Amino acid sequence: MAQIEGFKVRNFRALKDVTVGKLWNQQDAPALTPMTAVIGKNGVGKSTLFDAFGFLADALKVGVEEACDLRGRGGFRRVRTQGHNEPVEFEVYYREDVDARPITYELAIDLDGSGRPFVLRERLRQRRKRQTRGRPYSFLLLNNGTGIAWKGETEVSSIDDAKPGFDVGQLIERIRAEPEAEESRESEVVELDDKRKLGIATLGALRQHPRISAFRRFIEGWFVSYFTPNAARSLPMAGPQQHLNVLGDNLGNVVQFMEREHGGRFQSILNRIASKIPGIEKIDTERTPDGRLLLRFNDRGFEDPFYAQQMSDGTLKVFAYMLLLEDPNPPPFLCIEEPENGLYHKLLESLAKEFRDHATGKKGTSQVFVTTHQPYFVDALEPEEVWILEKGKDGFSTVRHASDDEIVKSMVAQGLPLGGLWYSDYLDAR
Ligand SMILES: Nc1ncnc2c1ncn2[C@@H]1O[C@H](COP(=O)(O)OP(=O)(O)O)[C@@H](O)[C@H]1O
Ligand SMILES: [Mg+2]
Repeated sequence: MAQIEGFKVRNFRALKDVTVGKLWNQQDAPALTPMTAVIGKNGVGKSTLFDAFGFLADALKVGVEEACDLRGRGGFRRVRTQGHNEPVEFEVYYREDVDARPITYELAIDLDGSGRPFVLRERLRQRRKRQTRGRPYSFLLLNNGTGIAWKGETEVSSIDDAKPGFDVGQLIERIRAEPEAEESRESEVVELDDKRKLGIATLGALRQHPRISAFRRFIEGWFVSYFTPNAARSLPMAGPQQHLNVLGDNLGNVVQFMEREHGGRFQSILNRIASKIPGIEKIDTERTPDGRLLLRFNDRGFEDPFYAQQMSDGTLKVFAYMLLLEDPNPPPFLCIEEPENGLYHKLLESLAKEFRDHATGKKGTSQVFVTTHQPYFVDALEPEEVWILEKGKDGFSTVRHASDDEIVKSMVAQGLPLGGLWYSDYLDAR
């Protein structure tokens, strides 16, 4: 299972410089766990960290300029940390699976001469086979839309771009002048037409760059949930769809897809989901004359079913998440902001448990990343799984790992639930 081991954000709103987990040059830091929660008070940057993942996923799809405008982000000038003129930067440190050598992806975005955001730098790197120490080697290096992509599946070029004096311009000239040289045959000079699109989007579509393609597919697979219950209440036109979208407004289509794909098993899946939502006895569907599928929920204590349109926000939300976890091809990475909103605490506990089982299950399906300020959710978690965001005196966010605190660790080991400790201020900085 693919796993993000670390994520670094610089100059993105309140996240002036925040890292959760491990990076290629911070090997002693603990890697992110299959289930990770970021907690903190209001205004510490939880939504911002969540949206940093969403921004990256959007940037891959629509380019950096449009991503700055999407989802109420308000354009680059509001996205960049106030009072600073440095590029907005992201770094993802991840493994394709447990045995794979980790890959680092770096992206920097800045304003061009015309005041529009563009991709300033992009880089993918990985250690060579059997190389256990030192700098990983680049297999994609782009500055301002021009750079080099190293071909091949496994072995990386002999060029160490981190060596002092390395100049990508010089290397490009050499590759062009001597196309038959070994280093030239292994690499390809790339010039992007559109500097607002990510290089991994363009090059990742090409068969000759399998590693870039794999990374592109990984980010494309992220599910960064911008779910709203009202979207889930909409009645989309009939038509089965395999995956729930991030807004959740195709819930009915996904149910239709499952009905078609799973035939006899469909009702038992709905029954299993129903058993996990306290208060719900049965979920089934009803076909409208124009071919749409209405979702019916049988609430304990009521004779007649309720339709999705009448169901509570919380129930719809849990249903949507459970359906997502039933996806036979679940997303490698599931990012959810404040799942507690609209949820009764019992519902929240069962949701936390489901996420956790899903993330740590034998099959290891999706990595789950959650932001929350709900102690009940945190009760289900271990200190290794929890990161605490705080606001520094300068107004910028800082982050701590809950397991750094020996007292907290030993109290949890003695059976005290972590959320309760947080509630009683034990997780506050000392
Ligand atoms: N461009 C920016 N530069 C610096 N700080 C910002 C910027 N935009 C928003 N903020 C700060 O970010 C904080 C909001 O963070 P947010 O992620 O919404 O917090 P949370 O979700 O934890 O409640 C606010 O305190 C706000 O002042
Ligand atoms: Mg928030």
